[in-house]
Amino acid sequence: MNYRHLSSLLCVFVLASCTTPPDSETKPLGANVLSQAAIHTAKTGPVDFVAHVKPVLEAKCVMCHNRKALPGHMSLENRKEAMRSGALGAYIVPGDPEKSLLVANVKTVHQKVSVMPAVGERLTPDEYAILTKWVKEGAPWPAGAAGTLKIVR
Ligand code: HEC
Repeated sequence: MNYRHLSSLLCVFVLASCTTPPDSETKPLGANVLSQAAIHTAKTGPVDFVAHVKPVLEAKCVMCHNRKALPGHMSLENRKEAMRSGALGAYIVPGDPEKSLLVANVKTVHQKVSVMPAVGERLTPDEYAILTKWVKEGAPWPAGAAGTLKIVR
């Protein structure tokens, strides 16, 4: 990469960070983590945890929602952690998205959360629909390695 490429790349980064609203811990526009094909499969057939839920939670949520980064709050590291209840109720109530804080609260709870540098992205409407459908279908979450999320920041 030559110098000119590098400086235009830097400009893009600077611009991008300037347009991030200060009231949000996330980037303003989340991009879909899943491919269009995977989104289609998840919306038309049963949602599969490993194929459709895990990649989204790993890319957008678990870097904050783990026991180390947010002790005492929702952890999405594995099934056992995620199925706990918090002060306001259960994070996941299999079959009942409206009672599941994971989906019911995600749109409002972050408005007061602000960290620098911004990590994670907001859920796209597709991802929100898939997470909601997954909870409705009973929130199947395997034990063991398949159900253990990687924490990368
Ligand atoms: C930058 C860190 C960060 C990221 C990324 C993040 N969250 Fe949060 N989230 C927080 C913090 C901090 C709280 C606690 C807010 C409070 O209690 O006021 C929280 C609270 C929540 C709560 C309320 C649960 C509780 O503890 O009572 C839900 C539900 C939630 N987040 C869902 C998500 C989902 C789903 C994602 C991924 C799309 C996500 N969060 C990504 C930082 C983050």
